Parts: sequence; C-alpha cells; structure tokens
Amino acid sequence: MQRKAHPLWEAFSRHLESVSSADQLSDLRDEYLGRKRGLISLELKKLAVLSPEERPVAGQQLNELKQQVEQSLLKKQSQFKQQHRSERLKTEGMDVTLPGYPFPRGGIHPLRRVWEEMEEILVHMGFTVASGPEVETDYYNFEALNIPKGHPARDDQDTLYLSENLLLRTHTSPVQIRTMESQEPPIRIVVPGRVYRRDSVDATHSPMFHQMEGLVVGEEITLADLKGTLEVFFRALFSEDTLVRLRPSYFPFVEPGAEVDISCIFCRAKGCRVCKKTGWIEILGAGMVHPKVFEMVGYDPERYTGFAWGMGIDRIALLKYQVNDLRLFFENDVRFLRQF
Ligand code: DAH
Repeated sequence: MQRKAHPLWEAFSRHLESVSSADQLSDLRDEYLGRKRGLISLELKKLAVLSPEERPVAGQQLNELKQQVEQSLLKKQSQFKQQHRSERLKTEGMDVTLPGYPFPRGGIHPLRRVWEEMEEILVHMGFTVASGPEVETDYYNFEALNIPKGHPARDDQDTLYLSENLLLRTHTSPVQIRTMESQEPPIRIVVPGRVYRRDSVDATHSPMFHQMEGLVVGEEITLADLKGTLEVFFRALFSEDTLVRLRPSYFPFVEPGAEVDISCIFCRAKGCRVCKKTGWIEILGAGMVHPKVFEMVGYDPERYTGFAWGMGIDRIALLKYQVNDLRLFFENDVRFLRQF
C-alpha cells in the first residue's frame, strides 16, 4: 500500500523546480537537511512528542522523505554539472588545426661548437682524443715538461696552486706526458680541455680558458709534418687559402720551438685592424718534442721524434665568430648565445 507522502515533499518539489544554479541548490539543501535548522531535522525532533503508536509510522514517513530529498538533490546536482561542462566545452572549444606554440630550444654553446669542430677535423686526420686531470701535480704540469724548479713559467703569479705539489693545470701539455707514459709510439693525440691561470678577467683574459694540445710521435717525424698538419687543419677550419708560417720561439718542452701564425682570415693577408696591418694572426705555440721530455717518459730520443702544439680554443672562437670580448662567452647572456 502506498503511504501518503509527507506534507513537506510537495513544498520541496516545487522549490527544487525553481532552482536554477548550484548555489541555490546548496541553499535548498541547507534549508531541508541542515543539521540544526533544516526542516527535516526539526521534524525528526518533533517525533519525540508523539504517542508510541504514532511514532513508527511518522518516523518511517520522515525517513522516506529524507531519502527522496537527498536523491533529488543529487540528481539535480549532476544535471548542473553536466550543463556546466557542456557550456564550457562550447566556449573553450579548441581548434586542432591551429599551429602549435613554438617551444624554446637550447643550443650548443659557441665555445663548445668550435671545440667540436676542431676536434672533428683532427679526428678525421687520424688523431685520437685524449684527456687528463685538471688538478695536476707539479711533476706533470712542469717538471716532466722540462720546466725545472725556479723556471719563470712556474711563477705563482701565473699558477693557481692548491698545495705545494698540487695545482690547477696551466696548460694541456701535461697530457702529453701522461699519454707517453702509458703508450708506445706511434702516437697521434689531440687534447682539448680546461686550463687555469691567475689572470684577472678582461676582454682577452679569463682565469679559466680552453686549450687544444696536439702530439705526434714516431720515427722520422719532422718539422715539415708539423707545418703540413697545421696547414691542413687551418684550411679546414677557416678557408682553403689560409697560409701558415712558423717563427722561432722558445718553449722549454720543444726544440726548436715556434710561434705559429695564420694569414689574416679577415683581410686575406692584405692588412686590417684585426691583424694590425701585418697580414698575420698569431694563433698557437708549437715545436719538436724536446729530447729531455722523451727521456722523462722513457722513450729513446735517438729513435723517436715528434711534434707538439698548444692552441687556445677561446681565441679561435673569438676569431671565427668575430667576437671581440672573451667575457661574452662566459657570461652566458642568452641574448648573446641565441645568435649562434
Ligand atoms: N703549453 C703552452 C702554453 O700553454 C703552449 C704550447 C707551446 C704547447 C708549444 C705545445 C708546444 O705543445 O709545443 O702556453
């Protein structure tokens, strides 16, 4: 038998129909189901004053009312959600045919780019890439390279010492020694890496910079091989008509030693501001490996000869990209880096 609905049901139903927003719905819920002042809660309290015969019937009627109210509220709520979603989809619809947003991409640092390019040329010429520690001992950085105690190159004006015997390598030349100690000739290595000097920062100096060392050891290696190797290298790096010239110079670990110039890549050796009107740009130090260095690593200087060079990667990058301030490479302002 269908029981009579509670009188509140009709009022609630009418109310519910007039609700037009989620907020109003929430108010309606409070009005009927609120714990203290909700109409249904108040009705439940009234049960206490009924007679024991009336109470179960009225109680059941109230419970049913409560359940119906709850269900109706939930139903309405989900209707609102649906409605809200479909409205949002209408206004927020996306056009899948639009092009995507550009995604910012990083790039290779110009120094690293030059480093890799130089390395690649030399690897194609048959060189193997070698490396060594940046924290070096006095022995590898100086002693074994024929730079004995008291030599001006050891001046602590130039060298960053970590202790009496440990220092930050001032050049990549110690890797020559480390390589020859562990290998027999023939040797053909190239050594790119960081080096450190006690310099203040300015347009052409930095306490950390990069060098690329080269070393070739074998039987019957001559100065002509040095010149030819550098010529092939610089022609690949700059241009086919680049010239190389050697001027006598002194480095303790080579004999003879040379400063190497290339013909000015900006004015084709006619004379300009970069080459100071000379037509030549000084680019590296090189020479024939000193017999004393061979003795230090246990090579027979009667049997083997070799050449070596050391060049600044940063300096070559400055030339190649026509940048006039080394600091730009280390400050890493993206406005500068973005151009490469
Ligand atoms: N190590 C030298 C420097 O840092 C550069 C150099 C000169 C390296 C002559 C060599 C060389 O291998 O033969 O100034």
